[in-house]
Amino acid sequence: MPVPTTCHQIPLPTGGTLNVHEAGQGPALVCLHGFPLDHRMWLGQLRGLSPHHRVIAPDLRGFGQSLGSEPVGSLDDFAHDLTTMLDVLELQEPVVLCGLSMGGYIAFRFAALMPQRLRGLIFCDTRAAADTDDARDNRHRMVAIVRKGGVATVADAMHSKLFAGETFERQPDVVENTRSIMVASSADAVAAALLAMAARTDSTALLPSLSCPSLWLCGSEDVITPPDEMQHAASLAPQSAFVEIKDAGHMAPLEQPLAVNDAITTFMASLK
Ligand code: MLT
Repeated sequence: MPVPTTCHQIPLPTGGTLNVHEAGQGPALVCLHGFPLDHRMWLGQLRGLSPHHRVIAPDLRGFGQSLGSEPVGSLDDFAHDLTTMLDVLELQEPVVLCGLSMGGYIAFRFAALMPQRLRGLIFCDTRAAADTDDARDNRHRMVAIVRKGGVATVADAMHSKLFAGETFERQPDVVENTRSIMVASSADAVAAALLAMAARTDSTALLPSLSCPSLWLCGSEDVITPPDEMQHAASLAPQSAFVEIKDAGHMAPLEQPLAVNDAITTFMASLK
């Protein structure tokens, strides 16, 4: 069933526009997608949470329909785009920022740069640590492949690790739709995001000083950012809660939207 959303085209200072979908009214929840995806990974949240929240899901710069801007040079560029978006949408009150994996890396940077604009943070299937040397080398290899026209190679390398076994078996449409979003991503955006993720700093030291409550969600079968690692990171943050989502892998909000929406609803209600 299609989700009725309002779509904004927000001009960026770096040229081009940010394509932003939103639905509902109420406390604002901004959802940042993973790599290399777009706002459509949050359709279950736009649908399920919009009766009581204003759910806002941008296509990050270069992804989905957010086209025409110069590629990001760092994760901070994505964070600054979000500030532009909040200003244009007249969201001067602090918001809850929710990011999955790469979206979580961006949320860490936003929390470091603009903590006053946050009333809560939701980290889904992500990690606070920087890349290991091996992971960084692998991203550089991937950039070379992408620049030779190989976005599908990157998508295929990731795809088999994204979902729980149960999702592959019972939700083949979710698996296939995700792959088709990935392979349609722009090579320039994919290469820029790979380099930005490879260069990201370790956010672990930020965790004890987070100034707002945080919710940490992780699929029980996430092999990319495993539950033990996320639970440990959550334990370093003040006012934090960790929830493991059963029968989900790295794409928990897509695989188990009801369980994820329940956890987010409880968290949103707990905020002052
Ligand atoms: C993602 O889902 O955004 C990716 O797994 C992030 C990454 O490559 O580190």
